[in-house]
Amino acid sequence: MARNKIALIGSGMIGGTLAHMIGLKELGDVVLFDIAEGVPQGKGLDIAESAPVDGFDANYTGANDYSAIEGADVCIVTAGVPRKPGMSRDDLLGTNLKVMEQVGAGIAKYAPNAFVICITNPLDAMVWALQKFSGLPKSHVCGMAGVLDSSRFRHFLADEFDVSVEDVTAFVLGGHGDTMVPLTRYSTVAGIPLPDLVKMGWTTQGKLDEIVQRTRDGGAEIVGLLKTGSAFYAPAASAISMAEAYLKDKKRVVPCAAYLNGEYGVKDMYVGVPTVIGKGGIERVIEIDMNSDERAQFDKSVESVEGLCDACRNIAPQLGE
Ligand code: LMR
Repeated sequence: MARNKIALIGSGMIGGTLAHMIGLKELGDVVLFDIAEGVPQGKGLDIAESAPVDGFDANYTGANDYSAIEGADVCIVTAGVPRKPGMSRDDLLGTNLKVMEQVGAGIAKYAPNAFVICITNPLDAMVWALQKFSGLPKSHVCGMAGVLDSSRFRHFLADEFDVSVEDVTAFVLGGHGDTMVPLTRYSTVAGIPLPDLVKMGWTTQGKLDEIVQRTRDGGAEIVGLLKTGSAFYAPAASAISMAEAYLKDKKRVVPCAAYLNGEYGVKDMYVGVPTVIGKGGIERVIEIDMNSDERAQFDKSVESVEGLCDACRNIAPQLGE
């Protein structure tokens, strides 16, 4: 059986981590692409040289030409620049939008049947632009964010309750920005919703509010610590779980930036919502009930993504077509 081909567009810190994880999980052969000469080749060779120790089989190709991604089953896009301390994700919009135009053209030409996962920030606007630049089916272009934000929320909750992360579920909706909506009502420890845990005296509402805010600031917290760039381990792990769900037709229920065409009352935008990922790509968007407070937070988040999409249209008018 032919192995899957996974193209990593961008070979920085996340790209390298993705490449290593794909090998360790034996998800397929890897093409590392980057415009920086030598970097994808060097990272690919380094990881390939670790394979005999770890005992995995995967071929690694480093490339500076899009033709190397030809026929890829999955493309994971990290190309563009990360933020530095003091910047917001939105400050990257102008620079990264230009990059998305080139990436979209490369994928359209060489990997039009791929499942595409975008990680580049500002995430919801970049995945929206990437889908339009590439013209790939909306079911096959999505953004990695909800998995990451939910994973951070789960980590903080597990820490607070001193329990295994495996027993914590968490739910984050909305855009991958300061207005994201961690939903405590839909998050659980051992199946018990967080508001009930407050009633049971396991924690306080004040502590939960702090955790919600820390989740919203999760990316900035890492940027502030690293100083030279942004998070890469958790973003890579999140994208890998989405790629694996697609390649293995796992039908995972995964929060991610998905194209909405009326769901949640949102039209022609990508926003973080729960989805089912299987061999059909984003096979389903799951619509959950929100109370008025949750809905207000969600609408505010959608509004901020809308503003970013408008900014993209001003720079690249063809996105408005
Ligand atoms: C993250 O949340 O870690 C990423 O979006 C990177 C960033 O700039 O925060």
